[in-house]
Amino acid sequence: MAMAMNNLGLEEARRLAASGSRVRTFGLFINGEWVDGNAGELINLSNPANRQTLAHIQAGDATDVDRAVRAAHGAFPLWARTFPTERQRILLEIAQRLRRRLTEFAMFETLNNGKPIGEALLDVAGSIAQFEFFAGAPAFLRGELLDFPHASALVHREPIGVVAQIIPWNVPLQMAAAKLAPALAAGCTVVLKPAETVCLSVMEFVREIDDLLPPGVLNVVTGYGATVGEPLVTHPLVRKVAFTGSRETARKIMRNASVNIIPQTLELGGKSANIVCQDADLNAAAESVVMTTVFNKGEVCLAGSRVFAHRKIHDELLDRIGARLASVRQGDPVDPATQLGAQASLAQFEKVNSYIELGRLEGAHATYGGGRAIVSGLENGLFIQPTIFTGVRNSMRIAQEEIFGPVTGILAWDDEAELLKDVNSSPYGLGGGLWTRDLARAHRISRGMETGTVWVNRYYNMQPGMPIGGYKQSGFGRENCLETLNHYTHSKCVVINLAEGELGVFSH
Ligand code: NAI
Ligand code: MG
Repeated sequence: MAMAMNNLGLEEARRLAASGSRVRTFGLFINGEWVDGNAGELINLSNPANRQTLAHIQAGDATDVDRAVRAAHGAFPLWARTFPTERQRILLEIAQRLRRRLTEFAMFETLNNGKPIGEALLDVAGSIAQFEFFAGAPAFLRGELLDFPHASALVHREPIGVVAQIIPWNVPLQMAAAKLAPALAAGCTVVLKPAETVCLSVMEFVREIDDLLPPGVLNVVTGYGATVGEPLVTHPLVRKVAFTGSRETARKIMRNASVNIIPQTLELGGKSANIVCQDADLNAAAESVVMTTVFNKGEVCLAGSRVFAHRKIHDELLDRIGARLASVRQGDPVDPATQLGAQASLAQFEKVNSYIELGRLEGAHATYGGGRAIVSGLENGLFIQPTIFTGVRNSMRIAQEEIFGPVTGILAWDDEAELLKDVNSSPYGLGGGLWTRDLARAHRISRGMETGTVWVNRYYNMQPGMPIGGYKQSGFGRENCLETLNHYTHSKCVVINLAEGELGVFSH
């Protein structure tokens, strides 16, 4: 599996973990300076594998948010007018700084989030790719010229202004990169609010690049959703909000964004279908099921957590899933051999466990896994066994609600029309997988799926440039692609009249 490939040795990993675990304290980054929060309160970041404190961040408040937004507002006119090559140079330099300390940043992510270091290395590589991809954008961010018999219209594409970016804890560094790169490329200034549970990598990253951008272009205010997120979204100088997280919080953000009528882009997770047809490569399909179950401990918005297996191959697929699950190495996230780590926080750990309990109550059968995992040496760590439920019906809550853990439900299907009805009877529509060697079937089913992404014959087949975003309650707006730039810009139409003089409508 790609997730296990890296060249980091165990000894080097342990050395990085030891230095990464030295308890740090971070300020807020406002107007190019690190400052303490107004309230003087701190939040602990901890390591979910051993429950030790890793760092302290500021619990910001509305006063801090106001200072950060004003700084971003002050920096906007100049940043919006920088030469495209200058923005490109800075974005490439950011990518370079990440690459220089790649293993170190990966370890920060692993320590705070609990993901295996092998995956964290991929996250940092993905973050670098965001900055490199959008570094190419400023030069091509252009409007258009429209000709009419009586007029020429110049459509300018202008940066939208100060943007609020609110990110979650499952892939913090990659989320920060996916939000910051297009915003900075477009000429916007930013106030970023990381998640209060996991943001060590983000804070270290901001520290690394704190000399690169003019003061006020990037500001970071840490803290809770209610005390930082809400004042940020409702601040009168904020022109747009970009959010990734839960549906519940998205509803609040939409209500709060209505105060000043600002646009939002929202990426809200899913319950993505991974469809296996009777003619599929069952080994590759089984591998994908195991991969989407364990990758990032299932804390992935795009996870293929509803597997639709054709009844003819259902039992065979299940056996092959079992064979692969047996070799999954769950353990210390710091160990480069580990493939399944710890859930990111106690709240998430408890949520996943309660869904496993619920699955049993609903009558599904935990064929593999089904509870807490004990990792020797890390007995109080927040580990959960990779869990496969069979006998799942689409109406069950475990088939409808996002669990965000290493838990996948398998449903059997016979008829393609019925299949699509079930696949689409979900409030979500973010990702999806499809396994078939039949070309017409591949096109037919993927076009019938109400979802933003369908991966045919390889799950998580992702590159910068491919749009990511939701149908239905998975949100709206697209990230990871050129279309993203439209969310950070608006167009202005300047119409030049070609004739001169009065129209002569009010002739005297
Ligand atoms: P959340 O949506 O509450 O948190 C995401 C971010 O929003 C954090 O930075 C948080 O501080 C901020 N936030 C919270 N309340 C806010 C408010 N009123 N205004 C502005 N910002 C606010 O997600 P949470 O509670 O951490 O996780 C709950 C569930 O959400 C997960 O179990 C999972 O199902 C889903 N989720 C989906 C993600 C995705 O990738 N789409 C990422 C994280 C969570
Ligand atoms: Mg929440």
